[in-house]
Amino acid sequence: NKTANQMLVIFGASGDLTARKLVPAIFNLYKGKHLPEKFVVLGASRSNLSNEEFRKKVVHESKYLKERVKEGQEDFIKAFSDKLFYEDLGKDYDTDYTNIAKRIKDLNEKYGTEDNFIFYFSTPPNLYEVIAKNLSDQGLNDETKGWKRLIVEKPFGYSLETAQGLNKGLQKYFNESQIYRIDHYLGKETVQNLLVTRFSNSIFEPLWNRNYIHHVEITNAESVGVEKRGGYYDKSGALRDMFQNHLLQIVSFIVMEPPIDASAEAIRNEKVKALKSLRIMIEEETLAKNTIRGQYIASDANGKHVKGYREEDDVHPQSMTETYAAIKFYVDNWRWKDVPFYVRTAKRMPTKVTEVVIHFESPHHQIFKDSDMNNKDNKLIIRIQPDEGIMIKFGVKVPGQGFKVERANLDFYYSSLSETNVMEAYERLLLDAMQGDATLYARADEVEAAWSFVDPILNYWENSPDVRTYGYSAGVWGPKNGDDLIEGSMGWRNPGEF
Ligand code: BG6
Repeated sequence: NKTANQMLVIFGASGDLTARKLVPAIFNLYKGKHLPEKFVVLGASRSNLSNEEFRKKVVHESKYLKERVKEGQEDFIKAFSDKLFYEDLGKDYDTDYTNIAKRIKDLNEKYGTEDNFIFYFSTPPNLYEVIAKNLSDQGLNDETKGWKRLIVEKPFGYSLETAQGLNKGLQKYFNESQIYRIDHYLGKETVQNLLVTRFSNSIFEPLWNRNYIHHVEITNAESVGVEKRGGYYDKSGALRDMFQNHLLQIVSFIVMEPPIDASAEAIRNEKVKALKSLRIMIEEETLAKNTIRGQYIASDANGKHVKGYREEDDVHPQSMTETYAAIKFYVDNWRWKDVPFYVRTAKRMPTKVTEVVIHFESPHHQIFKDSDMNNKDNKLIIRIQPDEGIMIKFGVKVPGQGFKVERANLDFYYSSLSETNVMEAYERLLLDAMQGDATLYARADEVEAAWSFVDPILNYWENSPDVRTYGYSAGVWGPKNGDDLIEGSMGWRNPGEF
C-alpha cells in the first residue's frame, strides 16, 4: 500500500505514551522504510519544550528507544529526530489554536506534507471534544485539500453514556470515517489471526457453532500489579481497563459471522452484530451468579513480598475496585445459542498470558471407556501471547493392549514461521491509519455495543450492597469463587497446564 506524504500531530506529546509507544513505533516504521518520503511529527502539549528538548526527551535520552538503537547510528538517529517538532499549547487545551494552526501550515508548506494530517489524541478523554472543536474552528477538519484523521486513545468512555457523549462530541466536528479509535489488541498479529484461522480454513468453520462447541474460555492474565497507575486504575478496574475493550474485541472475532469480504466496513459490521448479540445481564440473580470480581492482597510468594492492591500508591485504602474479573455469558444468536463463554482478566497472576480455548463437545457415544475422562474433549487453544501459536488437543491410542486414550497435541508456534519481522501493535495500527485503513480500529457503534453489555455489570458491582470483592493472593489464579464459575469438574485451563 502507498502511504501518502503526511504530518502526525500528537496532542499530549509530553505524556508517557508518546515516549513509550508512539515514538518507538514511528521509529520502527522509519527503520523499516514504511514512512512516506515527506513526513513530520508535531508534538503538542502544555509543557514548555523546544524542538530540541522534545527530541531529547522522546528520542536521544529516551529509555524506550535505547534498545532499538545500535552504536554508531548517530546520523541515522539524527535524521529521524529532525522529523520531530514541538509546539507549546500554553496552560490549557481549550485555548486559541491560531498558533498551532499556523505552525501546522508552516511545517506543511516547508516539508511538503500535502495537507494530510493525522491528529493523535493522547490526552485524557475529557479533552477529546475540546481539541476536536478547536481544530474544527481552525478549519483543520476540512478535507477539500488533503485528508484529516483523528486517532483517539483508550479509555473510550467510562460507561455507555460517556462513550456516547464522546462519540457525539467528536462527530460534531469530524465524520465517523475520519475517526480511528485505537485498541492495541487489534494490532496484535495473533488477534488478527483469529480471523484467518476461522475464515481461511475449511476444517474449523463447519464446527464453529453450538452443535460442536461445548464452551469457550478466554484467560487474560498479567503478572504485574497496577504499577504506577493506581490513580487511573482505581477509578477504572479490570472490567473497564481490559474487558470492555480488548477482551470483547477478541470475543467479537470468535463470535462473528463470516464477513462478505475483508474490508473494514464488512468486518466491522459483523463485529457489531456479534457484540449486539451478547446476552445482556439485567437480573441481579444472573449477575450474582455469572460475574465475579476480585482484588489481589499482599502475599509472600517465592520469598518475595508483594503489596496488596489497597496498599498501592494512589489507591483508596478501602477500594473495592476489581483487579480480577471473571464473567460468564451467552450469545443469543443462531450460531451460539446456549454455549457458555467464560472470560477472565486479572493482574498479579502467576504469569503473563492471553489464551483462547475452544472446547469441543465430546463424542456423544464413548466406546473407549478407558480414556482420560478429566480431559476428554478436543480443544483448540489459541495462544495470543506469549508463545504465540495454536494447539489442537486430540485423543490418541496409548500403545499396548486395549484401547486406552490419551490426549496428544498438534502444536504450531508463530516463531517457526519465516524470519519476517513482526510489527508491534502500535506500529501496525499507526501505519494502517496513515494508509486510511480502519479495519483494526473500533467503530462508534462497536464501542457502544460493548459498553451496553458491560454497563449493567458495572452498575451492579458498584451499586448493589451485596456484591463482594474477593481477595486473592498475588501470584495465584484468582479467587476460588472465580474458579467455581466454570461448573463441574472442568474448571479453567490455567495456561501452561496440559
Ligand atoms: C492496557 C491496560 O490497555 O493493556 C493495561 O490499560 C494492561 O492495564 C495492558 O496492562 C495490557 O496490554 P498487553 O499488550 O501487555 O497485554
